[in-house]
Amino acid sequence: MNELMYDGKHDNTLALLSEGYNFIRNRCAQHDTDVFATRLILKPVVCVMGEEAAKMFYSPGRFTRVGAMPPTTLMLLQDKGSVQLKEGAAHAQRKQLFMSMMTPVSLARLAEQFRTLWRERSEHWAEQREVCLHEEVRTLLCDAACRWSGIELTPHELRQRSHEMGAMIDAAGSFGPKNWWSLMLRSRTEHWAQGLIEDVRSEKRPASPATPLHRIAWHREDGELLGKDVAAVELINVIRPTMAIARFLTFAALALHEYPACRERLRFGNPEYLHWFVQEVRRFYPFFPMIGGRAVESFDWQGHHFEENTWFLLDLYGTNHDPRSWNDPDTFEPERFRDWNGSAYNFIPQGGGEYIAGHRCAGEWLTIELMKAGVELMATEMRYRVPRQDLSVSLTKIPALPRSGFAISDIEPISREFQHPASATIHNFPEQDRRKGR
Ligand code: HEM
Repeated sequence: MNELMYDGKHDNTLALLSEGYNFIRNRCAQHDTDVFATRLILKPVVCVMGEEAAKMFYSPGRFTRVGAMPPTTLMLLQDKGSVQLKEGAAHAQRKQLFMSMMTPVSLARLAEQFRTLWRERSEHWAEQREVCLHEEVRTLLCDAACRWSGIELTPHELRQRSHEMGAMIDAAGSFGPKNWWSLMLRSRTEHWAQGLIEDVRSEKRPASPATPLHRIAWHREDGELLGKDVAAVELINVIRPTMAIARFLTFAALALHEYPACRERLRFGNPEYLHWFVQEVRRFYPFFPMIGGRAVESFDWQGHHFEENTWFLLDLYGTNHDPRSWNDPDTFEPERFRDWNGSAYNFIPQGGGEYIAGHRCAGEWLTIELMKAGVELMATEMRYRVPRQDLSVSLTKIPALPRSGFAISDIEPISREFQHPASATIHNFPEQDRRKGR
């Protein structure tokens, strides 16, 4: 067995904070390797990147997410009792619950809801001097996700929920007071979500069987309903990550601004190009930097031996920018998806591998559908100016966002009579899923 390359004499946490999304990628390039060992937050860790590493990492059952993320981050993203912390049959049962919400009909209903809310809201934007796109879209997504889930919010509740869940997303990568404050807000959201679950179970609140609220409230595992705390966690795990799509849509707006030729191609309704554009936004821009796992059993890989419980970090951002899989990876080029081989391991902004048997993001198809709806709205149903502002994206701020949040001004909705909706006709789910029917 070969000895692992060890990076850094002591702990590398400060280097991680100062290099952010590039931390693993930089070291792999420097040592010409896909795997190295180091210490982070004083603990030994093995860092890996690239398609082969993702295949190893997403081999079903090889890693658990338990003990693989800082507890403060975990509580703001998934939390105790959630699907991500389950393995084997228990994981598959819970994951089915999520995947049952992701049918084409259900996603089309959500996308339509989002379009309607966007159109209504854009009338109001037209009266403003300037709006922050990220904040506006995040609130719209909160509203759309709640309505789709079977929850109507008053305007006051919408502001409150959007603020609380938005703060959880923003603070997921930080430590200290910002993180503690968001954890406090989280307990308010949980209280609200538990109330909803109780109301559905006691039939105080009607919920249509097709809605996520109904599905989660009545989901049974081994014959038993979920505890109301766990059901609330999973309800939040539908709404909050849907709101997080606002980050991708803000990056999409940035791409439309920085690559005006893309906007031109989208202007006249081109479903294939829309699909490539959305995929390229997910590949190119930084979102989840890495994902952690702990080895369930000892195993060998690439001539190295790893003991049970070894902590691993797979570089998601680095794998999406790996020159072995992507020509000119740091160039924004939607057409590259024309020839993409559909691998479940080289394009992993929302994790890789399989959905039911693995931990790949349950909301990936939903993300793609809502991004298509949002991009189409921006490219074909509104005119706006992008005033002077700081649009820089720091790769050391996790999760990343253009610094200004993307302000737009002089907004003018365009009549839909002249539009050709590009995404209305096809559902482009990730290629590998259509092929394998997963
Ligand atoms: C905003 C875009 C999103 C990004 C960047 C994202 C990213 C991710 C990542 C990196 C993982 C971890 C994969 C792993 O553990 O290997 C994950 C898991 C998960 N995501 Fe997403 N996600 C997004 C949107 C969504 C949406 C919209 C939903 C639900 C409606 C969702 C629900 C989940 C769930 C339930 C898991 C846990 C899956 C499991 O452990 O089996 N995500 N996501």
